[in-house]
Amino acid sequence: MDKNLKLPAHIAIIMDGNGRWAKKRNMPRVFGHKQGAKSVRSITTACAELGLKYLTLYAFSTENWKRPKQEVGFLMDLLSDFLDKETKTLMKNNVRLMTIGEIDKMDPKVHKKLISVKKQTSKNTGLTLILALNYGSKRELTLAMRAIAAGVLGKKIKVSDIDEELISKGLFTAGIPDPDLLIRTSGEMRISNFLLWQIAYSEIYVTDVLWPDFGKNDLFRALEEFSARERRYGGIQAK
Ligand code: FPP
Repeated sequence: MDKNLKLPAHIAIIMDGNGRWAKKRNMPRVFGHKQGAKSVRSITTACAELGLKYLTLYAFSTENWKRPKQEVGFLMDLLSDFLDKETKTLMKNNVRLMTIGEIDKMDPKVHKKLISVKKQTSKNTGLTLILALNYGSKRELTLAMRAIAAGVLGKKIKVSDIDEELISKGLFTAGIPDPDLLIRTSGEMRISNFLLWQIAYSEIYVTDVLWPDFGKNDLFRALEEFSARERRYGGIQAK
């Protein structure tokens, strides 16, 4: 990869296509998730090595509970396994783990592990890996609106205090800069209730590559395209 590329500080990824990857091989869907977890490892390491600041991965949405119980259980076990096995690597690579979403409503054992790994890695200063778990953007905005409404009723917030900054502070992503680049794998042209507020000016990159096949070289391709894009944020090109 060209050393002079303009890199994003924050990449967010909708990791899609695990099921199709398995189906193509006549394997059960969960086999695709298992392979997908390997991509999570390699892409996290690649982002840490590149010196990126934030990587947000959409690992489990508020809608994913609708999947068969067995698939949901498998995904939870996979996450639990990831936390057990990867903490050492996260420490070695100076990666800090954070989460967005209502993790307190997940399996208590998984919740406990998440809290523990977040605490263990909290002083790491390299990449911040943010796992979106039991995350839905509409739910996030709803909770923020409720908190603001309660603040207004309790006379802690004036209606005129409500601005973009206050709303951003009420989201799970408070304090985290918005993604510069949003990647979606497997060719679907959808946002799927992911970071609706935060991606207002993100560059979007969709690839046909299925998530279990998404490797370092696919990431570099996305970064090359990002670097070539011109971001105007609604303005005009600087002369
Ligand atoms: C989408 O593929 C993927 C998910 C809903 C789950 C993402 C989970 C992983 C990548 C593995 C585990 C994660 C961690 C953090 C260890 P899909 O099942 O919707 O695929 P399809 O659209 O082809 O059916």
